[in-house]
Amino acid sequence: KVLIIDFGSQVTQLIARRVRECGVYCEIHPFTKAAEALKSVQPNAVILSGSPHSVVEAGPTVDKALFDMGLPVFGICYGEQLMCDLLGGKVESGHHREFGRAEIEITADTPLFRGLGHVGDKEIVWMSHGDRVTAIPDGFKVIAVSEGAPFAAIANEDKRFYAVQFHPEVVHTVRGTQMLKNFLFEVAGLKGDWTMAAFRQEMIEKIRAQVGTGKVICGLSGGVDSSVAAVLIHEAIGEQLTCVFVDTGLLRKNEGEQVVTLFRDHYNIPLIHVQAQDKFLGELKGLSDPEQKRKTIGRLFIEVFDEEAAKIDGAEFLAQGTLYPDVVESVSPHGGPSTVIKSHHNVGGLPDYMKLKLVEPLRELFKDEVRALGRELGLSEAFVGRHPFPGPGLAIRIPGEVTAEKVKTLQDADAIYLDEIRKAGLYNEIWQAFAVLLPVKTVGVMGDARTYEDVLALRAVTSSDGMTADFYEFPWPVLGRCATRIVNEIRGVNRVVYDVTSKPPGTIEWE
Ligand code: XMP
Repeated sequence: KVLIIDFGSQVTQLIARRVRECGVYCEIHPFTKAAEALKSVQPNAVILSGSPHSVVEAGPTVDKALFDMGLPVFGICYGEQLMCDLLGGKVESGHHREFGRAEIEITADTPLFRGLGHVGDKEIVWMSHGDRVTAIPDGFKVIAVSEGAPFAAIANEDKRFYAVQFHPEVVHTVRGTQMLKNFLFEVAGLKGDWTMAAFRQEMIEKIRAQVGTGKVICGLSGGVDSSVAAVLIHEAIGEQLTCVFVDTGLLRKNEGEQVVTLFRDHYNIPLIHVQAQDKFLGELKGLSDPEQKRKTIGRLFIEVFDEEAAKIDGAEFLAQGTLYPDVVESVSPHGGPSTVIKSHHNVGGLPDYMKLKLVEPLRELFKDEVRALGRELGLSEAFVGRHPFPGPGLAIRIPGEVTAEKVKTLQDADAIYLDEIRKAGLYNEIWQAFAVLLPVKTVGVMGDARTYEDVLALRAVTSSDGMTADFYEFPWPVLGRCATRIVNEIRGVNRVVYDVTSKPPGTIEWE
């Protein structure tokens, strides 16, 4: 097992993800609880995360005793600086700030770089630091240098302490995963035998321990996440779980019915299906501001859900399919002020009066891990493989006011788009593909007549976690087929355009 001590970096969770990808179980604990975690987790190795803070300005720290436990320790960025600071090295506020892509040169043969290059070879890494180490503690040696960081990587091989100034956990550090693997396998002697099957078992135990004999209500959105959460919880506690599916009418074509069939007929999970389409459309009437639409849907979802939940006697817990990217994009990990880019209604949206405790078994997972868990639980590939879908649904894919007619048009057009993508065998190459119905009319000509109708925008992006994304480079004929079919088959749309914006600066959704 690996203990990751979190000092507040935005990318700490990525360390966990990489470690799990190597088949090693790990837990993240905040630095404030490091001593307890060392006892409760009983780790075989420790990783110190990055941080937005500065060692020089008395940033977050841990008890130095950590380094006397005989455990291998890997310090990343702030983790390196802290390690140096605690063990007698020196850290200074840098005039040599380094952000983004950098090159390191390997200066020693070491287990950390096994399988990579030899002395003198270069590696592409991703740096993000203001401070830097200027003297290393006794017993350490330099194993890599970069232009901005003479101590880009250091090691005390006898004690199995390694530290790097760059971030091996991000994909921009080209062979970062290999370095983490080397730390886990070569240095710490761990085995990569942990799997999603093990995660499933651990989570089932955790859910049982948290819930006891209490009743749990789970809000289903129709998407993969809440469905996987529900199936997992059902496996843990059976009939103590009741699912409430609030049908907003804003799902993709036919997906509402699919959820009902899956839960009722296939899994036999108690399900309350609330047909709230009219209510949602009614309240969305006249609203065109994206945040107002989101908030209205979030509030309604809770209202409708609450009404149903109140009918379930003695429910103590609320289950949600919150994922890690929802958590980082919605709240500041440091508790400080953060910029709200979009308010994701499934995080922190619970009103106080619902005194339900949260069960969020997917909170540490990324999307592809949730899919793997879904497969592990026996959900079909067609179901778990679906592209992500936002909580507010099609409402945020219809800029301007949402009407029943527009929703229907968008559902039909979106279905054609996805159908063509599947037929072209491209569905799984794409992170998310969807259509957006624009509040713009343009002139066209059909038959011999002039038309003046809506524009539909198509969006498709590649991404590994939804936090950054590139637009997808379709073969032109596929896009052409989509456009032809949509204009021919969808009444009221006479023009199709393709969105070629990446994130950042765009976002994936249009609202
Ligand atoms: P953006 O548009 O912020 O989207 O680049 C990133 C990912 O989040 C999804 N998304 C949402 N999910 N509630 C959700 O549950 C929301 O309000 C919401 N807005 C965006 C989006 O589909 C993409 O996968």
